[in-house]
Amino acid sequence: NTGAARFLPERLELDALSRAAARCEGCDLHRAATQTVFGEGPRQAAFMLVGEQPGDQEDRQGHPFVGPAGRVLDRGLQEAGIARDSVYLTNAVKHFSFTPRGKRRIHQKPTAAEIDACRPWLDAELAVVRPRVVVVLGATAARALLGREFRVTRHRGEPVPLGDALAVATVHPSSVLRAPDRDDAYEGFLADLRAAAGAA
Ligand code: URA
Ligand code: SF4
Repeated sequence: NTGAARFLPERLELDALSRAAARCEGCDLHRAATQTVFGEGPRQAAFMLVGEQPGDQEDRQGHPFVGPAGRVLDRGLQEAGIARDSVYLTNAVKHFSFTPRGKRRIHQKPTAAEIDACRPWLDAELAVVRPRVVVVLGATAARALLGREFRVTRHRGEPVPLGDALAVATVHPSSVLRAPDRDDAYEGFLADLRAAAGAA
């Protein structure tokens, strides 16, 4: 397990990347997960949204953000005026990480080593899509893209340079669902998405 790099195709193109990622064994997460959940969206989308990793529903269905967090995200995008067809959706880690508990699968945070192992896919997606704005959803994506010193709580909603793009960090949409005051958490999330919309 030396990371995803050796699984990358020669030609950097979304279809080829997605097919190659389906066979990735760059870390141990591929063993228990159902399938790779690669990013989706138009090539050269203005916005790239980067989450943590697929959840239970995403793992079963094979598409990013199709579960409860995805519904929060969809609502936020719509209210922030970010069109779905201007968005490429992906995750820092492409396989679901979980611990089995009875019949349930409990989401586990990916480790720093897993985030690093999976990074070549995210780098390749960034190189192909070349978004104007990268929306960084939560601490795991921030760790992958902005380094381990970056604090989402301190710098959320602030455009920061990321290569040729601007990155805007916010909380993970699933944290909105877990917040004691959901409406308040959602308003904060939406304000950050509006800042991202304004940065494009
Ligand atoms: N949470 C994520 O970070 N990504 C998904 O695709 C779904 C839930
Ligand atoms: Fe490869 Fe990423 Fe899956 Fe690990 S999580 S096997 S690096 S695609």
